[in-house]
This record gives sequence, C-alpha cells and structure tokens, in this order.
Amino acid sequence: MFVYPYFVVPGNNVVNPIDAMPGINHFSIDALIKDVEDGLKLGLNKIMLFGVGEEKSEDAHTAYSDNSLVVTAVKELKKNFGDDLYVVTDVCVCSYTTHGHCGILHDDYVQNDETVEVIAKMSLAHANAGADMLAPSDMMDGRVGAIRELLDANGQVNTAIMSHATKFASAYYGPFREAADCAPGKGDRKSYQMDFRNPTEAIKEALLDEEQGADVLMVKPGLAYLDIISKLKQNTNTPIAVYNVSGEYSMVKAAAKNGWIDEQKVVMETMYAFARAGASIINTYHIKDILKNNWM
Ligand code: PBG
Ligand code: ZN
Repeated sequence: MFVYPYFVVPGNNVVNPIDAMPGINHFSIDALIKDVEDGLKLGLNKIMLFGVGEEKSEDAHTAYSDNSLVVTAVKELKKNFGDDLYVVTDVCVCSYTTHGHCGILHDDYVQNDETVEVIAKMSLAHANAGADMLAPSDMMDGRVGAIRELLDANGQVNTAIMSHATKFASAYYGPFREAADCAPGKGDRKSYQMDFRNPTEAIKEALLDEEQGADVLMVKPGLAYLDIISKLKQNTNTPIAVYNVSGEYSMVKAAAKNGWIDEQKVVMETMYAFARAGASIINTYHIKDILKNNWM
C-alpha cells in the first residue's frame, strides 16, 4: 500500500541531500536507477516521480515535452525493472513555470482551462513513456476528465489516475517547495487549493473527480486531515490515498534527531492511523526507513 516519492534532477551521478528533509535526496536518473534497485530488494516496489531543475518558462513547455526528465526517467526505469516496479508520476507545472504557480498565469491570475490543456498533454507524455499511474497535483477544475479523454483518445486506456482530489492550501508543504524548487514567487495557492476551514467542499470536489474518471482519490496532507479521509470513505467505494507530506515528515525527523520522540513508534502509529481512517494507499517519505529497519 506504500508509495515512495523521488525527486529527479538533471546530470549524472547526482545524489544531493535535501536539507529540510533528512534522508531524502535529489537523484539524477542513473543514481535513481541504483537507489530503486536497492529499494526493490527491500520490497519497495511503488514510487512517485517529481521532475526538478528543468528549464522554466511562462508556458511550462518543458513539462509536457516528450524528452522531459520525467519521461526519460520513466523509460529508463521501465527498461530496467519492467512490471516489477509500479511508477506513478506527479503531474503539475509548478516546477516548470518561472513564477512557481501550479498553472499558467495571465495578469496574475491562474488560467484554469489553459492549464488543464497543459496538464493533459503532460499526462499523455508520461503515459506514452510507460507510467502506470498519473497523479495530477495542480487542483485545476475539470482536469481529471480532460486527462482521461486525451489518454483514451491516444490509446492509453490502461494508465490510471490518482487525483489529488482534496488538496488543501497547507503550511505542511514547506520543505517540499525547497525539494521541488516550486515556491510561488508571489501570491499563494489559495485560489486553486482548498480552504481547510471548509470540509463540505472537500467531499464535493472528490466526488467530482470520481465522476470524471479518477481511479484513486487522494487526501493531502495526512495527519491534520484524517476526518476528511474518514468522511470520504463513507461517501465512495473508490480507493482512497493519503499523502503524508514533507512537513509531516520533517517534523518527525527533527524531533527524533533530538531524541524527543521514538521515531519507529511515532511513524508506525501514524501509518496505522491512516489505514484506520480509510486510506488504502499511503504516499510517504518514511517507507524506506520502515522497510530498511523492519519497523512493520
Ligand atoms: C505542487 C505540490 C506540492 C506538493 C506536491 N505537489 C506543494 C504545493 O502544492 O505547494 C507537496 C508534497 C509534500 O509536501 O510532500 N503541485
Ligand atoms: Zn504544483
């Protein structure tokens, strides 16, 4: 049930630690292959890829290129590991736009429909490369339907969609913005991510994504949103995923490093909480440690 996120950067033989996320690195593709091979030996067979460090532009064209870093990484991974490895790709433009927003901007406003077209093209490029599942994290309206339609029209009927269905505008994403180099230059993400004071909208948004063909509905972040997982579970038979995000990870790592908490116990208690709430897929930076140290 676990998915491990990876940050892929250009270059060769690159393994660069991400300061705010101890234990998590930026990997070039060759180093990624080696790390995934080690992970597979531990039983870590599902990963999610984020592309970082590509040329940024106003129209985010590097995001949907057929030669993007993520496309090349997926091809290499599939060439090396085939069906032994389940590959999910993040689909969003914030690491590819000059301003760092998850959409195309005009006059300081994110353009929903224009962004959806880019998101769909990016999805198709990943699917053509061999991605098993796409995880759109942009939060534009209507993108799940648009992705499904473009994939189906191009014969990629077997590529699944794990929608970031209820993604809240959250301070817990702090460390990730360093990892993915995607902090917005100005403004915030509150016009497209959800308001954590509004639980009703969350369920409505998730069910809209389901209607449009989402195969998995994700709740993000995790710990502060267990009520949303549980409520969603009562309202759908579609599998629910949770994203145990960067800030949640970094807090545990920092406290553990200081000897203030028992890392194993806290991590496992958290994983069981996600499962108890109703998540059947857990995206977490902790899974490598869990497997390596036999915490399960
Ligand atoms: C951006 C994106 C974010 C995360 C995943 N995709 C950050 C944001 O929306 O600001 C957060 C993941 C994490 O914190 O681990 N599309
Ligand atoms: Zn984004």
